Amino acid sequence: MTRTFSGVKPTGHLTLGNYLGAVRRWVETDQHRSEALFCLVDLHALTVEHDPARVRRLTRQGASLLLAAGLDPRLCTVFVQSQVDAHTRLSYLLECVAADGEMRRMIQYKEKARREQERGGGVRLSLLTYPVLMAADILAYRTDEVPVGEDQAQHVELTRDLALRFNQRYGATFVVPKATLPVLGTRVRDLQDPLSKMGKSGAESAGVVHLLDEPEVIRRKFLRAVTDSGREVVYDRAVSPGIANLLEILAACTGGRPEDLAADYSSYGAVKKDTAEAVVELLAPLQKRHRELAADPGQVDAVLRAGAERAREMAQPTVDAAYRAIGLLPAA
Ligand code: TYM
Repeated sequence: MTRTFSGVKPTGHLTLGNYLGAVRRWVETDQHRSEALFCLVDLHALTVEHDPARVRRLTRQGASLLLAAGLDPRLCTVFVQSQVDAHTRLSYLLECVAADGEMRRMIQYKEKARREQERGGGVRLSLLTYPVLMAADILAYRTDEVPVGEDQAQHVELTRDLALRFNQRYGATFVVPKATLPVLGTRVRDLQDPLSKMGKSGAESAGVVHLLDEPEVIRRKFLRAVTDSGREVVYDRAVSPGIANLLEILAACTGGRPEDLAADYSSYGAVKKDTAEAVVELLAPLQKRHRELAADPGQVDAVLRAGAERAREMAQPTVDAAYRAIGLLPAA
């Protein structure tokens, strides 16, 4: 059976981008057709300036949202990265096959390092080695497929390179995984800045739709979405990135094609209104289940406890094999 692994970082409230780019497929497809693991990657949240209490809170909330979105612990494993030691142990071995230069070439590293410097803070070394830890997350479970949005494709490509290099130097140890991208929603853009990705940001941002935003907040964000000065509704990312983003979101929600949807509209206002309603409708069941789960936090903790136990068992043989292959003396 195919093995799937993916993760989400608790650095902010989950967004519509996370949902359309990744989580929805985990729920609708991956957990049913593969042996799947989904991870709250809390160690990755420590690579930029962070507030400890907030990371802890967002980790639990993220887990609750994944369950509310429809991940079923009877079908898949949901767990927290820091509760399974295999990730950091394997990460170190992979650092020994990774090169400094290839880390510095990663697009996300360059963007985030620049942002940290602009803020006046230093760049944490863990930000540079982030993709190696991500590779360890994936390789520890002998993963075949990694369902992610487009922004993570480069990191999965690097994971493949590291796996191949390790296998070549020290003998076949890792399965070489591949990224799977969604057809629609692979890169949801910020509603206020349609040239940038919709990302979980620390501050409350008018361009970012969070999964727990109230319907009125969602409507307001869409009505205020930045569009271009044109009038005609056409689907063209280069000419009208704002309206193209809305059409892509609408298509991802309703199952249509953005170019076909464009033909149904004669005003930007109508596109905004219908997209808002489609998103409100899409998120309603998730928000309802999230409220129910919030009333019973013990349930989320129990899922995470069982998930970590199962993940430890699954990762152990691969980590043992990698330790042996690279030349470490096994503990007696
Ligand atoms: P993160 O937490 O930034 O995002 C989680 C998932 O959501 C996707 N995504 C988007 N997709 C479309 N449009 C957007 N605007 C958008 N924003 C986010 C991401 O592509 C991702 O699939 N490094 C990863 C976490 C990670 C991981 C892993 C993922 C750590 N280890 C191992 C897969 C496998 C990250 O920061 O995702």
